Amino acid sequence: MTQRILLTGGAGYIGSHTYAALVEAGYEVVILDNFSNSARDVPDRLELLLDRKIKVIEGDVLDRAMLDRVFAKHDFDAVVHFAASKAVGESVKEPLAYMQNNIGGLVTLMQAMQAAGVFRLVFSSSASVYGNNAQLPIAETAERSYGNPYGHTKLVCEQIIEQTLASDPRWAVGVLRYFNPVGAHPSGLIGEDPAGVPDNLMPYIAKVAGGELPCISIFGDDYPTPDGTGVRDYIHVCDLADGHVLSLRSLFHEGKGHVVNLGTGRGYSVLEVISAYAQASGRDIPYLVAPRRPGDAAATYANPALAKEMLGFSARFDLGDMCRSSWEWVSTQAQSADA
Ligand code: WQD
Repeated sequence: MTQRILLTGGAGYIGSHTYAALVEAGYEVVILDNFSNSARDVPDRLELLLDRKIKVIEGDVLDRAMLDRVFAKHDFDAVVHFAASKAVGESVKEPLAYMQNNIGGLVTLMQAMQAAGVFRLVFSSSASVYGNNAQLPIAETAERSYGNPYGHTKLVCEQIIEQTLASDPRWAVGVLRYFNPVGAHPSGLIGEDPAGVPDNLMPYIAKVAGGELPCISIFGDDYPTPDGTGVRDYIHVCDLADGHVLSLRSLFHEGKGHVVNLGTGRGYSVLEVISAYAQASGRDIPYLVAPRRPGDAAATYANPALAKEMLGFSARFDLGDMCRSSWEWVSTQAQSADA
């Protein structure tokens, strides 16, 4: 029997890659997205990529009445929940909007799920629940904290899930803590498409490589790291998508939940990423050293052992693959824009 999945935020960066992986794994998937942070042509691109019709519902997870109608119409077996705001800098300026959207959205969704008798959920969490002082490599047992309103919403959502599980054993939830998702689908049809000037490192470097931005500012080169620049655990978005397929499979087969890191276990510095991107793109990536960015940790990278043990997950792609796929996507986009 084909299992039917509701994918909230499925037109977004990670959501669209996960949509492709779920369909290729044999699931029947419906996307729910309000297109607040996703391009409207993503469903068309997914249809091209997968050669199939895409079911998309335009709506907001805060809209309980709409959710009740959606659950009444479709007999879902599980939900993968991406729909949330995710820009750290924006969360500092708009904490209430982040609390409402991220926490209110999860509560409304889980209430609608409970009313419809749907109790399997994969939740998009983040390594930002570990705060900035966790022992490296970071294991799931590390103490949680938060360094910004975005990370705070992810921590509160995890606690809401824990309380709900404790109150009702019918729930089975996969909590996936992403490290730094980067790269794009090898087809060049979907990828990260941030509006304006990106906050994150790799999409910014991509715009420098593409000539849209003049140079990258390295936020501090005096960290206690091998080359002084910040170290992060970058993970290919396609590896991340595969992690969601394995999480769902575990919920269906094991019937119980898990809380796991999705990272590679390997940290790369800003300078290493710049060098790898220059090699992948064949472009010069000018940079200058700027002051540290407030709230940044020196280094974060995952202990990936538990995801391997519980889900059989391990990342396949290395930094070169991530940069090449990003450059393929960015340069394909630029070509179609010039056409
Ligand atoms: C990476 C490194 C910067 C930009 C954030 C969120 C996290 C997740 C991923 C949602 C750091 C340096 C960056 C630049 C730079 N988001 N950098 N110049 O901050 O590790 O994680 O995005 O889930 O929750 O916190 O990612 O890409 O912003 O920074 O030097 O222009 O690159 O200092 O060392 P970050 P990032």
